Amino acid sequence: KQPGTMYEAIGGFDSIERLVTAFYKRVGEHPKLIPIFPEDLTETARKQKLFLTQFFGGPNLYSQEVGHPMLRRRHLPFVITPERRNAWLACMAEALEEAGIEEPYRTAIYDKLSLTANHMMNTPE
Ligand code: HEM
Repeated sequence: KQPGTMYEAIGGFDSIERLVTAFYKRVGEHPKLIPIFPEDLTETARKQKLFLTQFFGGPNLYSQEVGHPMLRRRHLPFVITPERRNAWLACMAEALEEAGIEEPYRTAIYDKLSLTANHMMNTPE
């Protein structure tokens, strides 16, 4: 365990699982996001759990399995417009609420993910 991390503060892997499950449920139903995501989101969600664990200061599960995240590069095959960035973040905002992530962590996580989401945009509207 790694005390003092965001990962520990929100409740560790159980909370990441609740968040990611709530998130991809919405992604899979969002008209702006459906076109670029696979129909079966099982593997996407599994990778995202590994990534967010590491991103919030927990064990480096994603890098252990996949290697360096290179997130912007991994997203280049997909058309990511400002509209899609907004859709992704809207799904995340709702998921943070459904997963019961409390303040101040909810806002801190949303802000951190917003910065990364900005970095993922690769196509103007
Ligand atoms: C994978 C879209 C932002 C983390 C993906 C995939 C898509 C996508 C289409 C591929 C899914 C698959 O084939 O399984 C988007 C869009 C975003 C966004 C539209 C809006 C800005 C983010 C952000 C993060 C992130 C902000 C991290 C904080 C990941 C990870 C993967 C992924 C970890 C899995 C990569 C892998 O296969 O190893 N994303 N993404 N994405 N995304 Fe995003």
